[in-house]
Amino acid sequence: MSDKAKFIHNGSELEFDVPQGTMNEKYVDFSNFRSQTGGIITLDPGYKNTGSCTSAITYLDGEEGVLMYRGYPIEQLAEKSNFVEVMYLLLKGELPTQEELTKFENDVMDHDMVSEDVTKILSAFPSTAHPMGVLSTLTSALTAFNPKAVDAKSETDMYRAAVTLMGKFPVLASWTLRKVKGWPLNYSDNKLGYVENFYQLMFKQPNRDLEMDPVIINALDKLLILHADHEQNCSTSTVRLVGSAHTGLFASISAGVSALWGPLHGGANQAVVEMLDQIKEDGGNVQKWVDKAKDKNDDFRLMGFGHRVYKNFDPRARIIKKAADQVLDKLGIQDESLEIAKKLEQAALEDEYFISRKLYPNVDFYSGLIYRAFGIPTEMFTVMFAVGRLPGWIAQWIEMRQNNEPIGRPRQIYTGAPKRDYIDMNKR
Ligand code: ACO
Repeated sequence: MSDKAKFIHNGSELEFDVPQGTMNEKYVDFSNFRSQTGGIITLDPGYKNTGSCTSAITYLDGEEGVLMYRGYPIEQLAEKSNFVEVMYLLLKGELPTQEELTKFENDVMDHDMVSEDVTKILSAFPSTAHPMGVLSTLTSALTAFNPKAVDAKSETDMYRAAVTLMGKFPVLASWTLRKVKGWPLNYSDNKLGYVENFYQLMFKQPNRDLEMDPVIINALDKLLILHADHEQNCSTSTVRLVGSAHTGLFASISAGVSALWGPLHGGANQAVVEMLDQIKEDGGNVQKWVDKAKDKNDDFRLMGFGHRVYKNFDPRARIIKKAADQVLDKLGIQDESLEIAKKLEQAALEDEYFISRKLYPNVDFYSGLIYRAFGIPTEMFTVMFAVGRLPGWIAQWIEMRQNNEPIGRPRQIYTGAPKRDYIDMNKR
């Protein structure tokens, strides 16, 4: 027998089911609350207590610091899997056989050409344009070049849309970097794996060979795995919400890119490195900046600290911290910002303000330092995040359509002026 919750209002009592998810997460099913209560709604700004859907893709326990894709712990996937396999896992729900994996990678790489006309849109941007704005525009523009409608009931259609975008997205992402750098555009090399190809798309110069350092490729692969999905975060919820109006995949993902851009979400990796540089230039007094973050009269927040869901530790941050150490060590890079980051983390973790509010370093705290070691400009960091998050967005969009979810349409409580009569201009 499932649990029940009671809602008592004006002397009448209503009972609601309290079912459980796979990992025993309890919830009250309020889907008929408004009709049952005669018009009362629940108010939850920022959705801090509200589940927007059921999902079989990713499990996250913020109290225990657990993250699993399709049931597989992130630590195991980061250690043993690779990004292409994780893309397959998120999309299909199961780990592939070698044959399935090879076919999948070939299918993705078959879609790695982007219409030359897209380069005309790119060339209209100034080189100072933020790469996330450019990426969002180019992703949306793909709709015009791939106009075939997708039948949500057709597995084949959904698969085709997914591999099309997985093939083209790294090309677009790399072009935003080449725009910033003023380099000629580059095209895919389908003799390479997905991650190696993404790397050469970004960095290959027409006049010289590109060395692929396995340390860099492995770290990049790991970072992409760690970012691949994170259940109903701001950008993923955006992708699902936009898609719930039966908007196409490419336009929905373009909206997700815009949501990810914000400094409170994916844009935090850029903000972290800018903050560390600022602390460095200011003389490296870490305590001064911790105090600033605690000061309620100061808008400054420690970027890369805190998370809406993780209130113990972010398991991705642990893996990334280790990777950052390894990468900088193996590449022989002395990054003063890494030392400042470590001191900042230490100071904050020992501070009552951060302890009592359960504020821990999140995934973005260390990822930017690795990207910088790769030679990626700061404003490109969130684009790297977007390339990692793409399979998650796609899997969530497909799940939402296949579950036939209704259009997302929250309600509100109106707090404006009560009804009043229009006043003619000459009487105001
Ligand atoms: N520095 C200082 N204080 C903070 C920080 C921070 N980074 N984060 C939260 N707090 C404080 C708030 O001021 C608040 O204090 P109060 O209770 O005295 O008012 C308390 O902690 C709770 O903070 P909220 O903003 O209510 O927490 P919420 O869950 O809404 O926000 C968020 C989470 C947006 C991530 C927030 O912690 C933040 O702004 N962090 C910095 C930006 C960042 O790193 N974002 C990346 C998140 S991970 C990702 O999206 C990939």
